[in-house]
Amino acid sequence: MNETLSALAYLAASVCFIQALRGLSSPTSAVRGNRLGIAGMTIAVMTTLLQPGVFDYGSIFVAVLIGGSIGAVVAYKIEMTALPQLVAAFHSLVGLAAVFVAAAAFYAPEAFGIGARGAIHASSLVEMAIGVAVGAITFTGSIIAFGKLQGLISGAPVMLPNRHAINLGLGGALILAVLWLALGQSAIAFWLIVILALALGVLIIVPIGGADMPVVISMLNSYSGWAAAGIGFTLSNPLLIITGALVGSSGAILSYIMCKGMNRSFASVILGGFGGETTAAAAGAGDRTVKQAAADDAAFVMGQAASVVIVPGYGMAVAQAQHALREMADLLKKRGVKVRYAIHPVAGRMPGHMNVLLAEANVPYEEVLELDEINRDFPSTDVSFVIGANDITNPAAKEDPKSPIYGMPILDVARSGTVLFVKRSLASGYAGIDNSLFYKDNTMMLFGDAKKMCEQIVKALEHAG
Ligand code: TAP
Repeated sequence: MNETLSALAYLAASVCFIQALRGLSSPTSAVRGNRLGIAGMTIAVMTTLLQPGVFDYGSIFVAVLIGGSIGAVVAYKIEMTALPQLVAAFHSLVGLAAVFVAAAAFYAPEAFGIGARGAIHASSLVEMAIGVAVGAITFTGSIIAFGKLQGLISGAPVMLPNRHAINLGLGGALILAVLWLALGQSAIAFWLIVILALALGVLIIVPIGGADMPVVISMLNSYSGWAAAGIGFTLSNPLLIITGALVGSSGAILSYIMCKGMNRSFASVILGGFGGETTAAAAGAGDRTVKQAAADDAAFVMGQAASVVIVPGYGMAVAQAQHALREMADLLKKRGVKVRYAIHPVAGRMPGHMNVLLAEANVPYEEVLELDEINRDFPSTDVSFVIGANDITNPAAKEDPKSPIYGMPILDVARSGTVLFVKRSLASGYAGIDNSLFYKDNTMMLFGDAKKMCEQIVKALEHAG
């Protein structure tokens, strides 16, 4: 394929990727976005395979077959609740790939058109060094994030003494090693960069608590994009630069949106600590009492209501309760009850987690409202049905300046007539803190698995006719 045709094909692939990101911003256009992403990637891979320097189609085919099969099996088998750690695992591979490509370019610069061994262009060396450093940080950082989310290592923050000084020292040494590589073309400098960056990746992520992991994942996603863009410069591949920049900037924007949803500064997330209270601060009922209700009571209360707002959270995802929940909502709607869903930006364990599950259960999009669209309606809502959610309704976020979630915007369910809380116990949510809402006069606890509880309410509603 000649240069002009390649450039045009890469441009078409880039347009597909931009349109894919646009499509993925809303559930209604997400499928189209995904298809455009697949089309863009197909064009990109085919164009790359048709470049003049590509000969060994046999080994490429074998690699694609092995990698593609592993990817397909993993994607097919993965549980929705395990997606964050899967994403972390994938990011680690992007980081590792960046390191390998940079090593290949360093040892065989002629093949990449960036000079000769020992006489690589200085600008290419700097790009390579940045790509390899970001790639190595992404690699070990993602592995630690994966281990924390998968429960292989503790989710609690690991606070090393003088960690900021150590990280600053490592960062400084990394910059010196980059200069050494750019000026001296030394292989030792290259591998020193790799080792320092691998260590930095571990040290940056270990102090971050489990509750902040989703932000970390999107941050690592951003890093992996910038690593790819850096390598794109080394390889003079415009598509890799554009795709890397798209991934890098969209990951950074997503991290910003999540931090905003939790009312935390990006710096406070990255400097770590939050989430360490996960088990320590989890408080039980003490001598306070809660009102307990059964599925029949819930069916009666909601059946009599004029309006019900459903607030889903992580527990709905764990129980896979979305289909039973929609059945329940359909029966209520048949009785003339106005049913809507309220989505908190950080409900669940990843951005858009609840939207995806509700869309899977064919909940109409117009019934699904964001926090700022629904919050003012709670005082005029008869019943809030909170299902497997906890932190995102916790009044401590507004009332207790000492709470780790203080300042996080919450869904104001406490202001509705009655709050029905579906969860298995009085245990805390992800932030590890007690929820005073359980003990309020207008709250009724429905203890049990979210799916089973919805199924029982459906039966009770059907029985009541
Ligand atoms: P959580 O506060 O974690 O509460 C989920 C509740 O679901 C738990 O209290 C648990 O109580 C209950 N549960 C678990 N399994 C259940 C089952 N099978 N049936 C019924 N209930 C079940 O979740 P949330 O309200 O969705 O809040 C999200 C949290 O994640 C926030 O702290 C947020 O900051 C954090 N976070 C989210 C994100 C994103 S992007 N989503 C990013 C960073 C942090 P029981 O054990 O008593 O059942």
